[in-house]
Amino acid sequence: MGVSPDTSAHKRGTDSAPPEEAFRDDLSFAARIEKWYRQSGRDLPWRHTRDAYPIWLSEIILQQTRVEQGRDYWHRFTERYPSVEDLARASEDEVMRLWQGLGYYSRARNLLKAARQIVATGHFPASYQELLSLPGVGRYTAAAVASFAYDEPRAVVDGNVYRVLARHEGISTPIDSSPGAKEFALTAHQRLDKSRPALYNQAIMDLGAIICKPASPMCAQCPVADTCAALATGQVDSLPVKQQRPKTSERFLTFVCVTSPAGLYLMQKRGVGDIYRGLYQFPMWESDTPLSAPEVEKRLPPGRVTLIKSGVRHRLTHRLLHIDFYECLLDSPTCPIGGRWMTAAEVESCALPRPMEQVWAKLQSRNFATSKEMANFARADIKRKTQT
Ligand code: ADE
Repeated sequence: MGVSPDTSAHKRGTDSAPPEEAFRDDLSFAARIEKWYRQSGRDLPWRHTRDAYPIWLSEIILQQTRVEQGRDYWHRFTERYPSVEDLARASEDEVMRLWQGLGYYSRARNLLKAARQIVATGHFPASYQELLSLPGVGRYTAAAVASFAYDEPRAVVDGNVYRVLARHEGISTPIDSSPGAKEFALTAHQRLDKSRPALYNQAIMDLGAIICKPASPMCAQCPVADTCAALATGQVDSLPVKQQRPKTSERFLTFVCVTSPAGLYLMQKRGVGDIYRGLYQFPMWESDTPLSAPEVEKRLPPGRVTLIKSGVRHRLTHRLLHIDFYECLLDSPTCPIGGRWMTAAEVESCALPRPMEQVWAKLQSRNFATSKEMANFARADIKRKTQT
């Protein structure tokens, strides 16, 4: 393992410190984690560049996404859109389609808006302050991009960093309180290696991800165990402290795959003020309590209604969704529910909300017999109509 050629340039260019092995006890927190990172840090593709565009892409993708999953998407985006100009030219549907499966779709919408803003201003934001003006870029992302791309001395403070600092410094202020945010921001800035911000920030993030893990941290391998306050006082498992979470609200969604006698699917585009804005979906009802099958049937035009899957749970930040999926094979091609009729291939080319993607796959694989049945039905229907 190892770090990118670009960040290792720091160690070649600026390492005038005394040999680390000889002075281990004297080495600062930063020097010890940087040494550990050079040997054991993750080799991630966005760490091989100093170009702010692919670094920014990686940071947007990695908001609320694990590195293993994010890596594939980062390759897809950088291959499809090698420059910010290429991204700015894309349509929202195309970007959403490429984003499909990552969830939290507002990130994709902001990504495109930000790319267009960058192209309109004529240059990529060249500092932390400028980066903050982009939609979807908060303090964490601005600090990450400014330090990784420009070596600006800005400390990143993400979940991994909170954990390392809370334990190492013995801070019990809740990380999600406003006094906590201030205290951690200050501590993070004090600890930051101002001469090697890119290297230091990546080192502390990796230390949190690999060694100082939430459960079963590997303290025996930790390069800063001997100065860790939590380890010395038996508080590793109780730090960091989080405030009580607000109760998540529960919502019930009922999706219906409405199919015309000719085998077309009714699709609706989600509107403004909606978490899935810009994505296509089957007609859907949202309610506080589950809709019963007779209630669903009452809301639909005449047809054969079948329950495909019920009680699928989908967790969002403050919401727990319970989802039921139905299929409705319409008796007649007229349907009072609005939307666009699409072929299966067209549905497949749309960006779908995550829970719908899964049921769509199930519907497609479930029974070829149904499609055949539908095709037969459509043929019989046409025959009937042409005969009368
Ligand atoms: N999570 C968010 N940003 C990251 C990065 N640059 N490397 C690894 N994990 C991350």
